[in-house]
Amino acid sequence: MFLFTSCQVGAETIFRAEIRRLFPDFRFSFSRPGFITFKVPDDLAGNAISEFANRSVFARTVAISLGKINLEKTDIGKTETETETESETETKKTGTFPFLANKIWAIVETNRIFVNRIHVFRRDPLPPGEKGFEPGLTPELQTLHRILIEHSPKPKFFGIHHDDPNYPAQPNETILSVVEIDSGCYFIGIHSVSQGLPIQFYYSGGILPITIPDNAVSRAWLKFEEGLRWSGFPIGKGDNCLDIGAAPGGGSQVLLSRGATVLGVDPAEIDPIVLNHRNFTHIRGRISQTKRSLYRNIRWIITDINVAPNYTLDVLEELATRKDIPLCGMLFTLKLFQWSLAEHLPAYIDRLQDWGFDEVRVKQLTFNRQELMVAAQHRQPKSPENDKLTLR
Ligand SMILES: C[S@@+](CC[C@H](N)C(=O)[O-])C[C@H]1O[C@@H](n2cnc3c(N)ncnc32)[C@H](O)[C@@H]1O
Repeated sequence: MFLFTSCQVGAETIFRAEIRRLFPDFRFSFSRPGFITFKVPDDLAGNAISEFANRSVFARTVAISLGKINLEKTDIGKTETETETESETETKKTGTFPFLANKIWAIVETNRIFVNRIHVFRRDPLPPGEKGFEPGLTPELQTLHRILIEHSPKPKFFGIHHDDPNYPAQPNETILSVVEIDSGCYFIGIHSVSQGLPIQFYYSGGILPITIPDNAVSRAWLKFEEGLRWSGFPIGKGDNCLDIGAAPGGGSQVLLSRGATVLGVDPAEIDPIVLNHRNFTHIRGRISQTKRSLYRNIRWIITDINVAPNYTLDVLEELATRKDIPLCGMLFTLKLFQWSLAEHLPAYIDRLQDWGFDEVRVKQLTFNRQELMVAAQHRQPKSPENDKLTLR
């Protein structure tokens, strides 16, 4: 059995190291930036998808490969010329989609697979946030999704008909994935989603359909919106939150939009859109210079500071281990200034668990750049009794 998986462009080396560490019996095969395939031994095939999806920090998607389709030049039409406009190239490509769809359904029929849902995505052309690129479904991929549905051999191999390519899969559905690797080259895969997998695995390409609003004051809005949906933290009306390194305020905006009350600590200026919000207070300065008594009612902390992971953890440790802060959880980034810093992840997680967090999850989210998102939560309410049990 071959699996394919996708990740952020640039993260492949550290992702491969993670796969080698977690699954030493997997054998690497075809790969491209942002896309890796590997062979799984027969005895591990049964649980490989859910094991991989649950344990990998860097995987956005995973599926059993049904093969690769390379459209011939004649299928695509003549090759791109310098004078061709972008829309002409797109029209030419979408013109091949009915042909491609028939080839894909022929593979599905040969394998006698009953499909409930279709995911279409492409290998990212760039890292997120670079030259304005953000991962997501392009109009062209939406067209491919529609044409695949139109050409499906209903009802024998296609169960639930869903027109919206952004709609999340439901537990136990079988998903057909079609991945554009390069122009005219597609990988076809199949997987089912079991309950409890990280939220990404329910969406096409592992990409939550999030669009940054016009009034967002920074790109950090995207990663904290995605981070909150991924973590499932129940932050809502009246919850007291602390945003360390809040300026200009994108992360705070996400909390405010959920009705939370936010203390934003930062020596830098906060954007007036956030500063003037009635539930926001700016505490100007570095976190170490501020009075601890300000944080007595804080339930949730978010932070995104441009420092090495151990320094971020030093900043958080001092607050997270105080008995007078009724903390429920923390959502924060760890900056991987060198990708190799990810090798210390087990030690970072140990540190967090030593502070009494009983659930610590780490993921490179789609809108994270060269960094990881961490969600650490107290499942049991924090109390002096529980502290005795959990703080070693
Ligand atoms: C990447 S920006 C944060 C983006 C912000 N979270 C947002 O959502 O728009 C990093 C910020 O961390 C702040 N910072 C760095 N170290 C800090 C510290 N020890 N205490 C408070 N702020 C800090 C910097 O001044 C900078 O504004």
